[in-house]
Amino acid sequence: MKRIGILTSGGDAAGMNAAVRAIARSAMNAGLEAYGINYGYKGLVEGNIFKMESTKLDEIVNRGGTILYSARYPEFAEKETQLKGIEVLNKFGIEALVVIGGDGSYHGAEKLTMHGFNSIGVPGTIDNDIPGTDFTIGFDTAANVATEALDRINDTATSHQRVFVVEVMGRGAGDIALWSGIAAAADAIVIPEREYDIEAIANKLTENRKNGKDHGLIVVAEGVMTAAEFKEKLDQYGDFDSRAVTLAHVQRGGVPTTKDRVLAARLGDYAIQLLLEGKGGLAIGIHDNKLVATDIIDTLENHKHQTDVSLLDLNDRIRF
Ligand code: F6P
Repeated sequence: MKRIGILTSGGDAAGMNAAVRAIARSAMNAGLEAYGINYGYKGLVEGNIFKMESTKLDEIVNRGGTILYSARYPEFAEKETQLKGIEVLNKFGIEALVVIGGDGSYHGAEKLTMHGFNSIGVPGTIDNDIPGTDFTIGFDTAANVATEALDRINDTATSHQRVFVVEVMGRGAGDIALWSGIAAAADAIVIPEREYDIEAIANKLTENRKNGKDHGLIVVAEGVMTAAEFKEKLDQYGDFDSRAVTLAHVQRGGVPTTKDRVLAARLGDYAIQLLLEGKGGLAIGIHDNKLVATDIIDTLENHKHQTDVSLLDLNDRIRF
């Protein structure tokens, strides 16, 4: 193998650039050529591909977003488009593709693998919802951004004796809500993975007031409902002077944490080591702090990300 391709796809995540650097450098240092593909699968099909240069790679390790840009490209679900992508890869002499992205991006890599093109998925999404790994690149940064925002909101909630309902991202997963909610001492964390009872949450807030805590912080994962919807329902069970806040895309950007950069370095390098060993068609990840590689088709078809819902019970035991 002489030449590999790299693309980032789907929602960007802090640390994607650190992964791009690790993949490209590890490849170059092993004597391979690395080709960057701009705008994800869209750029692949359109042939928006360039040879990467080593000198440009060190300055990107601390940058949010992705220097390879990203795109949502539902057209890649069609077989014809996938085959066109392979045709372009062959034209550029690219023999293996490393895809950094989330669920949709992994499905693209799975389809390429099914058509016989060697592809490896590197988990890069703030949602932490990819099977085959405990953590995805970008999750730690996003959770930290959410925690910092919750801390700030808690200051004003305390000053005004208000209840804040804060919506965080995560698509169908509650990981960002859980981690930031625990870190910011939320009174309630509402996630898609577990039934919730708004009346019970409201009653607890009312009881808290009687016991000396006159403000509240509720974290709601976007996969459950919007902050505005939750606030409206909550208000039916008490007079809370509540406010609804949606954190939205601030969670996606910014300087990646050390943890995300190191995860990106480990996973990016691992993808290349596997390719050098002649392996491929894999989803790579980290499990119990060890690098792991699983068959990408089996991983996507037969496994689901498991959110650690025991953290919800933990929060219930340590909250006010
Ligand atoms: O997958 C990352 C993510 O930020 C999700 O948390 C969110 O639901 C979605 O992307 C938002 O997508 P877009 O930026 O395309 O609106």
